[in-house]
Amino acid sequence: MFSILVTSALFTAALAAPSLKLKKYVDSLDLEFSFNPVIPAYWTSLPHHRRTPFSVSPDGKTGYLAYLDASGSDVHVQHVDVSTMKSKGYNAITIPNLKEAGGIVGHGSGKGFTLLGNEPIPSGTENAPPGNTPVPAIYRYQKGKQLWKTFVAGPGVHPDDGLMMSPDMNGDLAYSPESGMYGAYFVVTAYTGFAEGHFGDSIQYVNERGALQTIDASSAWGCSHNTGIAFEAAAEPPFASICAEDQGAIWLNTDTQGMSNDGVKISNEQVTNGASGEPVGGMSGSYSSLAKFQNSTEYIFAWVSRGAVDLTTNDWMGAGYTHAENRTNGRRTAMAILSDKNTLVGPEATSEVGAANGDSQVNWVTESQGPDRSNAHVATFDDTFALVTWEEIASPNCGEIGFGCSGQFSGTYFQLVNKKGDKVGEPLKSMDTYVAGDMVTVADGKICWPYVNMDWSLDAATGYGAPETSTKKMSFACMSLL
Ligand SMILES: *[C@@H]1O[C@H](CO)[C@@H](O)[C@H](O)[C@H]1NC(C)=O
Ligand SMILES: *[C@@H]1O[C@H](CO)[C@@H](O)[C@H](O)[C@H]1NC(C)=O
Repeated sequence: MFSILVTSALFTAALAAPSLKLKKYVDSLDLEFSFNPVIPAYWTSLPHHRRTPFSVSPDGKTGYLAYLDASGSDVHVQHVDVSTMKSKGYNAITIPNLKEAGGIVGHGSGKGFTLLGNEPIPSGTENAPPGNTPVPAIYRYQKGKQLWKTFVAGPGVHPDDGLMMSPDMNGDLAYSPESGMYGAYFVVTAYTGFAEGHFGDSIQYVNERGALQTIDASSAWGCSHNTGIAFEAAAEPPFASICAEDQGAIWLNTDTQGMSNDGVKISNEQVTNGASGEPVGGMSGSYSSLAKFQNSTEYIFAWVSRGAVDLTTNDWMGAGYTHAENRTNGRRTAMAILSDKNTLVGPEATSEVGAANGDSQVNWVTESQGPDRSNAHVATFDDTFALVTWEEIASPNCGEIGFGCSGQFSGTYFQLVNKKGDKVGEPLKSMDTYVAGDMVTVADGKICWPYVNMDWSLDAATGYGAPETSTKKMSFACMSLL
């Protein structure tokens, strides 16, 4: 009797703990135009994946893939049959002159899509940025035609706070069907006003008719030298937002839209002027870092960090702000759970000057301290389970404070976690699958994302638009729960 009970209890436990299954669609989508999958990181020029924004219609049938033309100008959008990850047979839609594809929302069944892009304002326009520097805009397309286009920075947008442009937008777009609102969070440089010449970030909302909103949740200028953002829709503005600033912290800034210490300090980070270790991917990486559990108010955030020791005063920011030294050479993957868009589960990071351990609150996904992890992303399967992923260099060279490392790529890892913040099972490793575009939860509960089938090297700095890496094929991968 006793042994039967034990056996059935074990059996139940085994059933209750799901595992991961990876399915690849190698080179499934023919691209109508060439795409260059490699982008050099800010400052180090180390290779990053150039993001290909991806979204799936609510009915789970149509995928929307956006990519920058290999020439560096024009963004193309192609429709994907999600059951095969091949083309749906429609012509690509080209949005001319765009320099970056920064997020897409697919509406499906004849309703088209909405895209965040970055384009130069025609020269001669009053108050245009200097040097043809691009400005972010949101584009709405239906049945192949542009319904509207709304600039979310540049001439006429919050002129009293200064005008903004985006040499590197590093942004993301989110949509809330409940409130009929699109939100965009992006990195900016001010070209007029109090912040002229400085880098920051901005959050703007546009309604379904394309009207730019001026609401409390809008922010002309938020976090200093933000090297990446994390953004996810909520039922209404403000959407859930996180910034990684260059003064020493990562903030949950849904309520503050900035870096004030009224926000929630998720983590202390070692920083240098303009960088904080590319915690949310750095150049071309600001997507799928913050994900909402399905049918739930809870969120999960994933990032990479060198940890934080020996907190000291931040004289520039003043009381309540700190600087930290790094605990490790390579970065580790970490996760945080939010019970709703502005509430962190568990303690905030400390701001106590003199604290030896500035990272005791961190929930590490990777324990070992030797390797370097980068390109962390997260998506949710359902209301309980999420997928955290990262890339690894087993023996990294990390010369620069606040930036990435070089060395031989040693795998992409996929770790199943639950919303209590527990790891479930061992990570799955792949040497030929990468995450290079949005990780989307498809209607049947699997998570799919685009990548380019290529040899991935993290060994050395790369140049802009190296032609030998251009491709006319896109691959996809999907992860399911077993
Ligand atoms: C801190 O980071 C720097 C730059 O990446 C590295 O050279 C140094 O070894 C790291 N410190 C520790 C304690 O690992
Ligand atoms: C979320 O709720 C909807 C409506 O009740 C349901 O159809 C869907 O299956 C739910 N999704 C998940 C992942 O539980």
